[in-house]
Amino acid sequence: MSSPLSISKEIANSTFNKRQHPAAHDFKTTINLTDLDLFTKGQPIKEFKEMRDQAPVFWHPPMVGDIEPGFWSLTNHADILKVSSDPSTFSSQMGTGTMMTLGREDRRHPKLWRSAIDHMLNLDGALHINLRREHMPFFKPDYVSNLRVKVSAKITALLDTIEPKGECNFVHDFAQQLPIYTLSEILGIPEADRQKLVTWMEFLELAQYIQVDQMKKELDAEHTKEPVNTEMIDMFNNMIDEMFEYGRDILNSKRKNPQDDLLSAIANAEIEGQQLSQEFLDGSWLLIIFAGNDTTRNTLSGAIKLLTENPDQRQKLIDNPDLMPNFVQECIRMISPVMHMRRTTTCETQVGDQLMGPGEKIVMWYGAANRDPSVFTNPDKFDIERENADKHLAFGIGRHTCVGKPVALMQLAESYTQILQRFPDIHMNGEWKVAPNNFVHAIQEMPVKF
Ligand code: HEM
Repeated sequence: MSSPLSISKEIANSTFNKRQHPAAHDFKTTINLTDLDLFTKGQPIKEFKEMRDQAPVFWHPPMVGDIEPGFWSLTNHADILKVSSDPSTFSSQMGTGTMMTLGREDRRHPKLWRSAIDHMLNLDGALHINLRREHMPFFKPDYVSNLRVKVSAKITALLDTIEPKGECNFVHDFAQQLPIYTLSEILGIPEADRQKLVTWMEFLELAQYIQVDQMKKELDAEHTKEPVNTEMIDMFNNMIDEMFEYGRDILNSKRKNPQDDLLSAIANAEIEGQQLSQEFLDGSWLLIIFAGNDTTRNTLSGAIKLLTENPDQRQKLIDNPDLMPNFVQECIRMISPVMHMRRTTTCETQVGDQLMGPGEKIVMWYGAANRDPSVFTNPDKFDIERENADKHLAFGIGRHTCVGKPVALMQLAESYTQILQRFPDIHMNGEWKVAPNNFVHAIQEMPVKF
């Protein structure tokens, strides 16, 4: 078992196997789920359907410039359920539970790469359980119930601000603001510093795109001999430095003067009798600010689109507010704000009718599983009375199931209760803008009128 000090060092030297068994499905396609532009209109529903129908376990070629040989792409519900529920066969630690590509060594961002690995989403076994346990008190019913009161007041204040305008960019004025507020309350981040998190989040959503874009420019420059413009990447790096510096300072001060908040719990966590290393503190900081913000923010915005496109469902909800919890689950099913997670096989195994050898990479597409017609009847229909809406896999399932789920559900329900009471006709008023990102469904603009 690795020490909690750093697993990124171990991962840095990992090698991954090609598929060791012939593909069970003979499926030739040009669909490329590593093409980030494919995700700028939302989930690639048509492409997912074709894959699920033709080859639900599909050997996908690697991303451009990737050192890894490709991956098994999973698009049906049963297979993703099986893989997520069996962590000893499908590891989150070997090769990480999150990174679709580890990237070429010379292209790895010095801080971001390491911190994207050194956190609990990428741990197996006792290390994971112990670190997760430190987070749990902040997601228990009593804690969430107290938090609900503050969140509800914050929602009222945000809606008071936008009401006189009659229209706004819902992302900037609401969806971005609320999760930052909620998370900052849980983490213990002072009010004066909270807007910085909003800016860092925007840069993090673009991280994947900036990396790929830079690589393409460098490849072009090898042919044209033109110098590469590094302005964007320099700005990005400065933001990332600032974000980690802030994280280090605040975790340090919480280590010295612990308070009753989640950052103090992380700063003072002891795993195998040791406090977390700097690597793990950086990684835990990155994980919590990204996971706790971006997911809820994108579901809040995505729900506006669903309400706009489905006036009958909106009316049903207004007429029967008891449907709110199911409305929230159905929104999360349809939106699936986390696109994928990754696992690596530890031994000879089988998924569906596909044999796999050890050391093979798997990518689970939650948005595809959540529209699997064998589980969800008429899956593309937004149906707030759907009986099994909560059987979606958007929060993952198994040992790594989203720890923040109760906080996410509470924020969504509180928000839409108040929004529909005050602005029952709120609707999209122009085009949305989605960042090129295949890890999170990153809605950046959502013009609304009410
Ligand atoms: C709609 C909102 C959200 C969605 C869809 C979502 C989704 C997910 C997913 C898919 C995973 C990984 C599951 C796996 O690998 O099996 C995860 C893990 C996690 N989420 Fe969320 N999340 C949401 C909100 C939140 C919030 C609000 C927080 C914190 C305040 C949070 C914190 C975390 C953490 C810390 C983990 C790591 C858990 C572990 O490794 O044990 N999430 N989430």
